[in-house]
Amino acid sequence: MSSEDSSIRIEGLSKRYEIYARPADRLKQMILPRLQRAVRRSAGNYFSEFWALRDVSFDVRKGETVGIVGRNGSGKSTLLQMICGTLNPTLGTVAVDGRIAALLELGAGFNPEFTGRENVRLGGLLYGLSQQELDARFDAILDFAGIGDFIDQPVKTWSSGMYVRLAFAVAINVSPDVLVVDEALSVGDEAFQRKCFARIDAIRDAGATVLFVSHAAGTVIELCDRAILLDQGEMIADGTPKFVVARYHKLLYAPADEAAAVRESIRREWIEGKLREDLSAIDSGMQAAAKGGIPAKVDGVEIREIEESAYFDEAMLPLSTVRYPSRGASIAGPRIETRMGRQVNVLSPGREYLYTYDVLFQTTAVGVRLGMMIKTITGLELGGAATAPHPAGGMIVSAGQRLQARFRFRAMLAPGVYFMNAGVTAAEPEGETYLDRVIDVLMFRVMHDAERMATGTVDFHVLADLSVERVS
Ligand SMILES: Nc1ncnc2c1ncn2[C@@H]1O[C@H](COP(=O)(O)OP(=O)(O)OP(=O)(O)O)[C@@H](O)[C@H]1O
Ligand SMILES: [Mg+2]
Repeated sequence: MSSEDSSIRIEGLSKRYEIYARPADRLKQMILPRLQRAVRRSAGNYFSEFWALRDVSFDVRKGETVGIVGRNGSGKSTLLQMICGTLNPTLGTVAVDGRIAALLELGAGFNPEFTGRENVRLGGLLYGLSQQELDARFDAILDFAGIGDFIDQPVKTWSSGMYVRLAFAVAINVSPDVLVVDEALSVGDEAFQRKCFARIDAIRDAGATVLFVSHAAGTVIELCDRAILLDQGEMIADGTPKFVVARYHKLLYAPADEAAAVRESIRREWIEGKLREDLSAIDSGMQAAAKGGIPAKVDGVEIREIEESAYFDEAMLPLSTVRYPSRGASIAGPRIETRMGRQVNVLSPGREYLYTYDVLFQTTAVGVRLGMMIKTITGLELGGAATAPHPAGGMIVSAGQRLQARFRFRAMLAPGVYFMNAGVTAAEPEGETYLDRVIDVLMFRVMHDAERMATGTVDFHVLADLSVERVS
């Protein structure tokens, strides 16, 4: 998705809380000298960490209505609060395009000492309305809220339903580009809820983006274009409301001892689906490009953008290159390319790349094969390949000819630095012999991937699962 199309863009959003077993621990944590704390840290802090939200990334398109679902405590309100800017993230970023109006859980927003009328003025100004804009909308807000005479009483004397009515009346009358609603609607009575949904529809029709949390599956299915499932602070599904709500219910009604397995299977299904989508998007984009329609687009996104994270770092040159004496052929021009032919050496994990080099022959050679090897920084040979022997027993290359070696590979590797070898062999009377060979001819780096579940150096695409069994 290009940035013009997205209304909300969230990357790696995380919130960590520090949980103190005893109030005295919080004090100790605050007043103990830093150094002492640093020493203490290795033995354990005075608090334990709790991640209310962990590494959540997604985009919301302009005009899209997205439902956030999840069990109690799964991080929904935490996510919305960070989107609205009322809570600071521990890690990650949020970008919102345009005016955002929010209806968060009770407690957020109004000053309890002020009357309803004063709070409307305050709220309007907070949303950035000018005095004239506010005057023009004032009556509509009071009318929508339908509070009656209580409007001139401090809101601390109001019922929670009245409070929400007014908050909602303000939020929808400021012409927001983004409307965020957290459960709050369930507080109002049914007639008021109906009025709110009609109003949300109108706001959507005007092109606004709506993000809302609801436990009511029917509402999510009816109102949303898309839904996101959070669990234990993590995003575990994203898709059509029906698809996501079905998984949410599966999780909600799973017996306690099966919940972990259900959760993992939902998450796995989603991640695998996403991987397949990514790959097929690249494939169809490539096909479109091959037909001459460059720049290729997938879902309106330039295919280059899907690849854009891989790049070339000029400073990354191996210092350990060893070139063996040439015996009639020389390797030149080694490089790694994306599927679109762009030279890179910082690769996205899991993506496919092309490693290529040229071989110029000074003498005629028989049974020629070109090979490659990927090694770790410590020199461990992880794997490689060579071109197949010529079916007729020996490929003959004449002096003055040039061959190009092309090796497609997928970067199924842990984040880190790796080295490539290149070698060309020929069949000589004494056996297969190197005509040229370069060790560590180039180096590349594999980027960090927040979603990586694999451990160790090579990602074998292991699918991890577990089942729980009662044995007594
Ligand atoms: N200030 C805080 N300090 C410590 N933990 C917190 C704090 N605020 C929230 N949490 C914890 O973060 C987790 C996520 O809370 P959040 O309110 O986002 O959940 P939710 O999905 O909105 O739940 P619900 O459906 O009940 O509204 C919960 O386990 C909650 O206890
Ligand atoms: Mg909540």
